Amino acid sequence: MASPAPATFYDKYAIFFLRMNKSCLLASLLLLSHLAPAQTIHSPSHKLALTFALSAAGEPTYQLKFGTKTVLRPSRLGLRLQDQTGFAQGLTVVRRDSSRHDDTWTPVWGETKTIRNHYQELAVTLQQAAAPRQQVLVRFRVFDDGIGFRYEFPTQPNLKYFVVSDELTEFALAGDHKTFWIPGDYDSNEYVYTTSRLSQIDNAQLVKSSTDIAVRVAPDPQAVATPLMLKSDDGLYLNIHEAAQVDYPAMQLHVDRASYRLTASLVPNAVGSKAFLHAPAHTPWRTLLVSDKAPDILASKLILNLNEPSKIAETSWIKPLKFVGVWWEMQVGKSTWNYANRADTLDAQGQLIPNGRHGANTANVKRYIDFAAKNGIAGVLVEGWNVGWEDWFGNWKENVFDFVTPYPDFSVPELTSYAKSRGVQLIMHHETSGSATNYDQRLDTAYQFMNRYGYPSVKTGYVGRIIPRGEHHDGQWMANHYIRVAEMAAKHHVTVDMHEAVRPTGLHRTYPNWLACEAARGNEYNAFTNTGNPPEHETILPFTRLMGGPMDYTPGIFKLKGYAAGAPQRQVHTTLAKQLALYVTLYSPLQMAADLPENYEAHPDAFQFIRDVPVDWDDTRILEAEPGEYLTIARQQKGSPRWFIGAITNEKARTTILDLSFLPKGKKYMATVYADAPGASWQTNPEAYRISKQPVQAGSKLRLALAPGGGAAVSLVPL
Ligand code: NOJ
Ligand code: CA
Repeated sequence: MASPAPATFYDKYAIFFLRMNKSCLLASLLLLSHLAPAQTIHSPSHKLALTFALSAAGEPTYQLKFGTKTVLRPSRLGLRLQDQTGFAQGLTVVRRDSSRHDDTWTPVWGETKTIRNHYQELAVTLQQAAAPRQQVLVRFRVFDDGIGFRYEFPTQPNLKYFVVSDELTEFALAGDHKTFWIPGDYDSNEYVYTTSRLSQIDNAQLVKSSTDIAVRVAPDPQAVATPLMLKSDDGLYLNIHEAAQVDYPAMQLHVDRASYRLTASLVPNAVGSKAFLHAPAHTPWRTLLVSDKAPDILASKLILNLNEPSKIAETSWIKPLKFVGVWWEMQVGKSTWNYANRADTLDAQGQLIPNGRHGANTANVKRYIDFAAKNGIAGVLVEGWNVGWEDWFGNWKENVFDFVTPYPDFSVPELTSYAKSRGVQLIMHHETSGSATNYDQRLDTAYQFMNRYGYPSVKTGYVGRIIPRGEHHDGQWMANHYIRVAEMAAKHHVTVDMHEAVRPTGLHRTYPNWLACEAARGNEYNAFTNTGNPPEHETILPFTRLMGGPMDYTPGIFKLKGYAAGAPQRQVHTTLAKQLALYVTLYSPLQMAADLPENYEAHPDAFQFIRDVPVDWDDTRILEAEPGEYLTIARQQKGSPRWFIGAITNEKARTTILDLSFLPKGKKYMATVYADAPGASWQTNPEAYRISKQPVQAGSKLRLALAPGGGAAVSLVPL
């Protein structure tokens, strides 16, 4: 399409002025200054300055400064539409509105009791200079810790149904930054992170060698996933992600290795386009966090602030929870999800032939219920309880599970009443094997079944290729599916934890029953692969995957070597003390104590920390942090004066001296420190820990020595 000649600034102003009625005269005069070719808005305390401009060809652009430092050079905005003019160039500004917002809200659960939402907004309405004169509005919000912007398509005569074929959004970075990245894969986020310069990004080898992932579709070797964490040579920490991914595919980023320009790359749908939209509509927010201090990135609430408030009015039934599960034993090969070894070999009565190793049997589940009851753990997850596991994955089969039929050795009514009598909640497991169509059809029945048997919480999973065939885990269709699941669960007062779903974008503000997601490489990789997760992994996750929302990482492994059947060399890449610290450093309202009861029973003193640590908080202080290196976080328990601290390091030993000045003045606490013992190391001596107690108060200094791959966990109880 040839681009129409852009109207001059004065033409645009004249057209605009003629449209104004007299009562708008004052407003129009105010807008006169706004119609300058470029407009800059500042964050509330002027840390950040964002400039919007139209190029001579009518291409929208923006740029960003942090003080005097350039964060983004002029970067394009816009979208291409299928069979339509689109919003790439030939645009004029027809309206600009700016406003300021400052309020505070209370999350249903979270890291802090309240959240301040404080920003300066600029909304620019752009119109094609020539017919059909379609309009798009770009809304920018500039906070002190970053920016968010999105494209909005208002109701208009000439734009109704349309298809986005490409988004042109760019982040033209100012240098060859250090980057913490995983491949831009349409179906998986379960990768180890690579730390490299932007100019070195190439995911091809990594994608090829990641044979432990069920589905890998990463056609662009220079594409990376978000949240993307970067550090510039002049000391800026940047994080690029999105907020409120609704009715739109996930945004990945294509990296131009020569110019350091990142371009939005949307996960395609089954017909090769990106998003089917119907005006009025809008895209998710594109987000960029900026600070010269790494802890500010972790403390940011920008992504949550850009999500809509809770759609669930009555939320008293939504409970953060700790749980154990009939799970790690399958991951390490001690028992199986499947009841029989073959689905197609039956006994004389036409029944499955039990393999004798089925984990989800009534007696075994009761053992976990007893363990949970004894230790004040609220939930017990049971995987492999329902028929279908003999042939569940890899064949792109549509009807795999029905989510209501248990195996013969798993008594639903008996376990329901047993769990109830012990004051424990059972957590349902719905593995879909990627067949979202099957799950969609059965959702209502499945959740009614859960209601009937008193299951308040479900873990879902999407291992394998997606059905509808051709769709991807991170495309528009699946984005809507995950939200349908969260909504249906809410209708039945069920909380949800999704595995293999698209990485979160803060939607747990809108659906607070959506407690957690996996969407990264969890602790389970230490169980079923030899490579596992390297010691730096957990120091990167908070800066990447967790920026969008809580993760079900499944910490708490105590037996760190010799746990995997047939793989004696396999080991977890942390110390035991670091496993404890993860309950504080990896924020989630849903935390599993993932190891086997017998492994906890072997270390009752260390297990005390898992019993004590809460999953909901009134306050959070990021005491120190450096992505890929270390992280120390203190959190105050919800509705309690108790504090908990987690400190972790990568493969390097580290000594840190904590300043406890965040404690209220004049109050004395007993600190119980769960630390790596002298000589501990993730590789050779991971289970060596030492527990000590010391009285502390505001102003005390607490010295923590972390082993290679180690950590420390501390509880602070008022004296
Ligand atoms: C992968 C999930 O991450 C894991 O937690 C689950 O046990 C298996 N799929 C089986 O559903
Ligand atoms: Ca997984």
